[in-house]
Amino acid sequence: MPFEIKINPIANSRISELDQNNIQFGRLYSDHMLIAHYEDGTWGNPEIVPFANLSLSPATTFMHYGQAIFEGVKAYKDAKGDARIFRPEDNWKRMNRSAHRMAMPDVPKEIFVEGMRKLIDLDQAWIPTRAGCSLYIRPFMIATDEFVGVRPATKFSFIIITSPAAAYYSKPVSIFVHDEFVRAFPGGIGFTKAAGNYGASMYPDQLIKKMGYDQILWTDGFEHKYVQEIGTMNVFFVIDDKVITPDLVGGTILEGITRASVITLLKEKGVTVEERPISISEIEAAYKNGTLKEAFGTGTAASVAPIGKLTFHTDVMQLRPVEEWETMNWIKTTLDDIRYGRIEDNHGWILTV
Ligand code: COI
Repeated sequence: MPFEIKINPIANSRISELDQNNIQFGRLYSDHMLIAHYEDGTWGNPEIVPFANLSLSPATTFMHYGQAIFEGVKAYKDAKGDARIFRPEDNWKRMNRSAHRMAMPDVPKEIFVEGMRKLIDLDQAWIPTRAGCSLYIRPFMIATDEFVGVRPATKFSFIIITSPAAAYYSKPVSIFVHDEFVRAFPGGIGFTKAAGNYGASMYPDQLIKKMGYDQILWTDGFEHKYVQEIGTMNVFFVIDDKVITPDLVGGTILEGITRASVITLLKEKGVTVEERPISISEIEAAYKNGTLKEAFGTGTAASVAPIGKLTFHTDVMQLRPVEEWETMNWIKTTLDDIRYGRIEDNHGWILTV
């Protein structure tokens, strides 16, 4: 069924609030948002409306039982000032994999991708033009039944908001490898972008921040032996001339779209990329014998972020200066060249607005 996307534009734009020289992640929201509601087994027509608060009953089910999922996408401006969205169709597919696991309805492609394109078209002025900046796009879905009993909901809202973004991490990140708390188990929801995955990480995150670290590198729930992901990012290690990243088997790691892009580009360059279990002891051994050359995270918000320091128990692994990192610097530049339209997109990753 074709959807009609109605637009109710804002009377007075708030664009003057955007200071291109002082952009903080997730603080300022663009003029419009898209909203669509699901009821009685069908989606209604989406609407693009001025960004505003929602009015919800305190009994709204997602607030109690966490049927809530989200995505992260980015739009960039090329040198001519044209807007480009990076791999939105892949986010749409991933959102529906999350939706399936969380007993939520699939979002039709027309609402997710075409709705996003129309929203970005309308709010193009909000895409920052400074180097390294972009417009962060946050699609999400919440269960909206007004019911405090526990059961899968029947009503849902899908919303897209957008926010100007600069680099998520402004310096190499310091990582604490955790072997006490667990992010995900096989059979759980680790592969989804369910809000609860992030909520459950807040307490351990608070503890490591007090110790002066930026992020946790999670280990597997059975043995705490194999590294998994960083929560805001997937993780890559360059050992000798190979690039190694944890595989997706078991469904405990987010299927990162930046992760997939990095693997594709490195393989095309002829670099050996291994997707396989990688233990913390393998990383420690490589550090000690000098073959651990680089370690970095990848994600939509973080893009490609170097890891400066990695601590496991009392073992502090301080990596060499990032300027010397050939692989990470190449992949970061190449991805940005594709996103900002400085080189051709041979993969069909860019949706022009
Ligand atoms: C993203 O990279 O888009 C994420 O969702 C990670 C984080 C900001 C929660």
